[in-house]
Amino acid sequence: MADLLSPLSLRETAVPNRIAVSPMCQYSCEPDGLATEWHRVHLGSRAVGGAGIVMTEATAVDPVGRISPHDLGIWSDEHAEALQPITEFVRDQGGVPGIQLAHAGHKASKTRPWDGNVPIVPDETDPDGAEGWEVLSPSPDAYPPFEGDRPAMRKATQEDIEGVIDAYRAAAERSLAAGFEIAEVHAAHGYLLHEFLSPVTNRREDDYGGNFENRTRLVREIVTAVREVWPDDKPLFVRISGTDWLDDRESWDLDQSVRLADDLAELGVDLVDVSSGGLHPDQAVPGGPNFQVPLAERVREEADVAVGAVGGVTEPEQADAIVRNDRADLVLVGREFLRDPYFGLRASDELERDPDDAAQQWPVQYRRAAHR
Ligand code: FNR
Repeated sequence: MADLLSPLSLRETAVPNRIAVSPMCQYSCEPDGLATEWHRVHLGSRAVGGAGIVMTEATAVDPVGRISPHDLGIWSDEHAEALQPITEFVRDQGGVPGIQLAHAGHKASKTRPWDGNVPIVPDETDPDGAEGWEVLSPSPDAYPPFEGDRPAMRKATQEDIEGVIDAYRAAAERSLAAGFEIAEVHAAHGYLLHEFLSPVTNRREDDYGGNFENRTRLVREIVTAVREVWPDDKPLFVRISGTDWLDDRESWDLDQSVRLADDLAELGVDLVDVSSGGLHPDQAVPGGPNFQVPLAERVREEADVAVGAVGGVTEPEQADAIVRNDRADLVLVGREFLRDPYFGLRASDELERDPDDAAQQWPVQYRRAAHR
């Protein structure tokens, strides 16, 4: 029986345990998208802290796909070079470096959360003087939460769609050059790919809108393009929103997620990372410990693919139970990794039966001095 500390084999990649740092935007770049000292220390600390997988924040495949001007990016070789020391350090600590490849769609061009998370319209700037831009959307409707200034929005043309697919392919190639071992396509939280998946935001009448097959086309085309350049021995993840939490209307739901997960597995996706929501302010999200785990569990039961569970996991025993009870293959931990960068070491101390084995998980620099 697998538990939280069991290794996880995905293709030729051996992940030392089932604990992953969930992608978390740091909004800490200059407006050039290059990784900074902050990213090196932030991600490096979690690798020291025993995470099996250290996943970057949403990393923009194209400048217009940034949530804020301060997001991390991978749209040039220089971006890959700035990320390379991070992947090297994570590997040195025994962790597996992953990168989340993202396009924020019509949720792009906003100020950072601590500056209010409000749209920056083109020609205007955020408090740091970074300019906004025209955002890309499947349909021309304004994104629901904006009541004041609306972002300039552009309905994606066929050419735009091809550009996004090419940007994902190129980003995957650069991620490989930067030393990443896992690529994750971000198709959740109301960003571009989720906007295409959900009938709430996708009102297109061409091959990319309407029925399930059309709404999922862009995700499938992107996964196919990424898989073409992502080596056969390396794992590919996709993060989805398992549901929009909008049961009162036609929306993206768990039945469609299960169906998509199966399609993705056939295209060579190794793990579906099941989050939820983020598309519309009317969402009725339950919250609380393990609140999204039932979504992951159902995808795991009904689709032929490994799954990651995320959301409200704060305790090693809680994460362990998710794996032991076959609810997910991997547990992604977000905010608790901000509170405790050493969550992985805490888990091995609390769950490992043999204290000597637990001690071995600690970096040699800390072991003799700090391990009890
Ligand atoms: C997030 N989350 C997130 N998700 C994602 O897919 N890409 C991202 O870049 C981010 N950015 C981000 C920043 C910050 C500060 C937080 C707190 C969250 C969501 C995150 O990965 C996770 O799914 C949720 O936080 C729920 O998990 P926890 O925090 O309950 O463990």
